[in-house]
Order: sequence, then C-alpha cells, then structure tokens
Amino acid sequence: MPTTQWFPTLIYDAQLEKPAPGKRRATPFNRELLAECYQIRDMDDEGADWCAENYPGGYTSYGSMTQLHRMSSTFAELRDRLGRHVRSFARTLDLDLDGRTLEMTDCWVNIMPHGCAHTLHLHPTSTISGTYYVKTPKGSSSIKFEDPRLSKFMAAPPRKQDARRANRTFVHYPAEAGQVLLFESWLRHEVGTSRIEAERVSISFNFNWF
Ligand code: NI
Repeated sequence: MPTTQWFPTLIYDAQLEKPAPGKRRATPFNRELLAECYQIRDMDDEGADWCAENYPGGYTSYGSMTQLHRMSSTFAELRDRLGRHVRSFARTLDLDLDGRTLEMTDCWVNIMPHGCAHTLHLHPTSTISGTYYVKTPKGSSSIKFEDPRLSKFMAAPPRKQDARRANRTFVHYPAEAGQVLLFESWLRHEVGTSRIEAERVSISFNFNWF
C-alpha cells in the first residue's frame, strides 16, 4: 500500500534487570525498594497531608519528596540501573542532546490501595518520564496512554474496535513488578481506579536534558 507511517509515539517497556535463570522477578533489589517505599510512607507526615487533599485514599510522595534519588542510596541505585534504559530509549527517539546527558531530576513513590485512581496527566518540565513497578498484585490497574493528537481530531470519526494497534486512540500497559516503562514526558496517561484490596506500588521519575 502506498502509505507510510509518520510521527510515531514511542513507549519503551522492558524488565529493569534480567532475572537470574530459574528466579522469579522479585529480585533482592526490588524487595529493598519495596521496603523503602513503605518506610517513606510511614515517615512522611507532610506527604500524608498533601495526599489527603490531592490523592484520596492513596499515598504518593509527589507533593513532599520528589528527590528520592538524592535521599536514599537504594533510589540512587535505581537511577543508575534505569540509566541504560533511558539512554537506549533516547537513541531510538533520535534525540540530539547536544552533548548533554539525560539526568534524573525527580523520583517519587506511589502506593495505590483499593479505590485509588491517578487521573489523566503529563509530566511538565521534563524530557523523558517513566515508571518502575515495585509491587503489582493480581488485578492491579494498568496505565493508559492517550493519542497525543486527540485534541486535534476535530470531526475525525472514532477508530474501529478492532483497529490496528498503531491506529488506536488509547493503549493500556499492564503493571508488572520489575518492569520499566518510559515515554516522552508530554504523553498524557492515567491509572484507573484500583479494584483490588492489595496495594499497587510504583516509582515514577523524570529525566531531563537541561
Ligand atoms: Ni505520570
């Protein structure tokens, strides 16, 4: 067919580490991160106040502690382990960084209990954003990305139910512990209301080139 795809929206999805043969995904490093996520929640009174107003039912350090990679050696280690994924994604995007490097500027924890949701948003003043999944009990809400051109569709008809993947208006990625997702920071996304009792734990971050 004489048609070519242009202007793709790229989403990167990989395991943070390759698990040792025969091992499950929950690495010792992941367990360490999980323990720290809970410790942070337990000590973060300012965050609890922020969440009561802005993140009903859940906990996020987004309003109180967004520099966890500077406060904790475990989170600094996460930053380092994310580095090769971010560099690889930037190469795939053909980003010309003018000799600069992408550096982690923000890193925060999200803990979603039953009934908690994360409404549609993007990550301002950032280049590449992403999430690392720490704990994803069965039935955890997926992350949903929206076609960035949606506001320009005007009178465009909706897409067919069985539209080709690349032509769909929304895409869901299931949350899977050990998995890293990366996307350009302008890409809007949301996490639907949690329908399970167990908590879903993730770490979100921004990388910036300026
Ligand atoms: Ni986000």
